[in-house]
Amino acid sequence: MSDAPLVLGIETSCDETGIALVRGRTLLADAVASSVDQQARFGGVVPEVASRAHLEAFDATLDRATAEAGVSLRDVDAIAVTSGPGLVGALLVGVSAAEGLALALDRPLYGVNHLAAHVAVDRLVHGDIPEPAIALLVSGGHTSLLRVDDVTLDVTPLGATLDDAAGEAFDKVARLLGLPFPGGPHVDRAAAEGNPASIDFPRGLTSPRDDAEHRLDFSFSGLKTAVVRWLKAREDSGEPVPTADVAAAFQEAVADVLVTKALRACADSGIETLIVGGGVAANSRLRVMLGQRAGHLDVRIPPPRLCTDNGAMVAALGSALVERGRPPSAPGVGADSSLPVQEIVAPGLRSGLPTMRAGIVEG
Ligand code: KG4
Ligand code: ZN
Repeated sequence: MSDAPLVLGIETSCDETGIALVRGRTLLADAVASSVDQQARFGGVVPEVASRAHLEAFDATLDRATAEAGVSLRDVDAIAVTSGPGLVGALLVGVSAAEGLALALDRPLYGVNHLAAHVAVDRLVHGDIPEPAIALLVSGGHTSLLRVDDVTLDVTPLGATLDDAAGEAFDKVARLLGLPFPGGPHVDRAAAEGNPASIDFPRGLTSPRDDAEHRLDFSFSGLKTAVVRWLKAREDSGEPVPTADVAAAFQEAVADVLVTKALRACADSGIETLIVGGGVAANSRLRVMLGQRAGHLDVRIPPPRLCTDNGAMVAALGSALVERGRPPSAPGVGADSSLPVQEIVAPGLRSGLPTMRAGIVEG
């Protein structure tokens, strides 16, 4: 693969500045600078803080990536950048930098979908994605089941959360338990010492009457409310809160629903490959439970470091786009905070007249 195209991937949709270099399916460098310590003070991601941190971290992260890969920017054959969905100000930092680099280096630029990139990153670990595949995408902002017929062209949503994303539920419950932001890894660690069967928390949208309308959808707000109520009752009774047990029982409920619905999507479609991506895919209980319940299915989960946001996922999707000869975005890629998952490559400026979408100018 040494003559395969070298793709630079840039990710700035939330609080990680991720810049990576991929040649073919080989990850050469994956530099990440996170503003999570700054965000932790506020208990969540503050968009302005994220944008400023991307600006400050960008040049050094790019230098780190090229040095680690042992390449110069002139060696890059194509550039991919997250165009959406995400925080618009944060996205714009990456998109503007990528547009500048593409122009200066005279290379094609792909403005890509963050969600498709969470799926595509698996090709760096387990090889090309067997298509069609089912993808379970679980992050701080999204929880979806997707049918992936072609990760560069054809992704169909099968179900999604009606309220909170799975990662958001982890973050909120962590806060209730007095654990730091982002909560997922802290709940995961606390749960290791707890008993998952100690409390029977509800599994949203899994009753037979939900089957007709919400067979592959998710809901986590009822679970969060159940945790609030349980903690309140405990507080009223004056008993201490068993943090590890609550974390373990909550995590068990989330993992149970995610696994149940992902396996259902595979069974319904007859598709035997399941790819899991997004920050919550780093969860240890989810990973174990999938292994226990997936039977003959080919379950592909990247290592935790590639599940949370990074540049490798963007470069991985970029290199698949280049390999399959997909056309790059037109100049004027723009940032789209609510880019739909079906739109894998942002088209760029379509006409001479810019239009407003999500509050920013794009084509
Ligand atoms: O994909 P990601 O890095 O960013 C978004 O695109 O949202 O996902 C971040 C989310 C956060 O909500 C974080 O708490 C959660 O992923 N997360 C986890 C774990 N590691 C990160 N949730 C559960 N268990 C984990 N080990
Ligand atoms: Zn993400």
